[in-house]
Amino acid sequence: MSEGNTSNQVEDLKYRALQELESASDAEQLEAWRVAYLGRRGELTQVLRSLGSLPADERRAAGAPANAVRSALEQGLEDRELQIKRAAAENGTAGEAIDVTLPGWPTPRGGLHPTTRIVRDICNAFTSMGFSVVEGPEVEWDTYNFEKLNIPKGHPARDMWATLWVDHTDEDGEHPMLMRTHTSPMQARIMEKTDPPVRVVVPGRCYRYEATDPTHEWHFYQVEGLAVDRGITMADLKGTLYEFARRIFGVDRKVRFRCDYFPFVEPGVDMSIDCFLCDGKGCRVCADTGWIEIMGAGMVHPKVLEGVGYDPNIYTGFAFGMGPERIALLKYGIEDIRLFYANDLRFLRQFA
Ligand code: FA5
Repeated sequence: MSEGNTSNQVEDLKYRALQELESASDAEQLEAWRVAYLGRRGELTQVLRSLGSLPADERRAAGAPANAVRSALEQGLEDRELQIKRAAAENGTAGEAIDVTLPGWPTPRGGLHPTTRIVRDICNAFTSMGFSVVEGPEVEWDTYNFEKLNIPKGHPARDMWATLWVDHTDEDGEHPMLMRTHTSPMQARIMEKTDPPVRVVVPGRCYRYEATDPTHEWHFYQVEGLAVDRGITMADLKGTLYEFARRIFGVDRKVRFRCDYFPFVEPGVDMSIDCFLCDGKGCRVCADTGWIEIMGAGMVHPKVLEGVGYDPNIYTGFAFGMGPERIALLKYGIEDIRLFYANDLRFLRQFA
């Protein structure tokens, strides 16, 4: 055997052996491969042995590549062994890794936030009465939040809404920007874009520069409602809101309307339901009055209608605005509104 022949032979052997190694897929096949190439009678072992019969200088020259092939095959075997073990562990097919008595991993399930639930309940009650759901911007112009709602600059009624101002005005510097303090700006936005009849509810987040307490957050949701058409009266307002209260709080609820002031409605009212906890007898939840206030409402002010181009001699309408978190406090007996946004999973999981 010449030196050139030997090195060709070991290169072929290496190529063939490593290819075969690729298709070995378990410990048994690996052992068979090892015996075939590296075992006492293995192919490579025989080649290495045959080197002994070569003259000294040829032996040296052929020995180096043959030994390199041996190292390559040993390394290949080690690598393939590791690969097979890893794959088995990943597939869970490693014999020793399977314990069929172990319970599976529970898949964590998310849930809807209580605000999302109550907002959906409220919107569903109105969509089933023919209202559509619309949303609007949380960052608003002073014009929509106040002026188009019959609250001009300097009007004392602005104090009813502690406002978070944004450090920005429009191009002519006349109209400051703010975080909307209520969803009522959407009344004007919707009417400007739509011809009557209008029947919408607007859920969305509002912001106020207010100290927080068990019934006040500095950011909270409102659901606004607006219905405008020919011949809408206070009777429509009362009938619609009464039906809403029955759907959310149960069929036995009584409702009460009392005069209230909001510059964008005339007349304005607040609406209360009789306390569902004490049935109107008086308790902690209703502060011993027997009634719980749930929203502001009223007939859309003629000036608001005029401002958006509706003729108040032809069209009338009613509007209302409620706080869903406050409604959830009542409905689920929650004691503090701040729990809604404190990210405490012990609270949130109760609604999942
Ligand atoms: C308004 O914001 C009027 N835009 C409502 C309205 C609309 C009246 C249309 C007439 C016609 P008020 O400030 O009362 O009104 O807020 C309405 C509701 O939002 C309250 O009844 C309450 O449920 C909720 N709310 C107000 N302030 C907070 C607060 N800081 N935290 C949580 N909820 C609040």
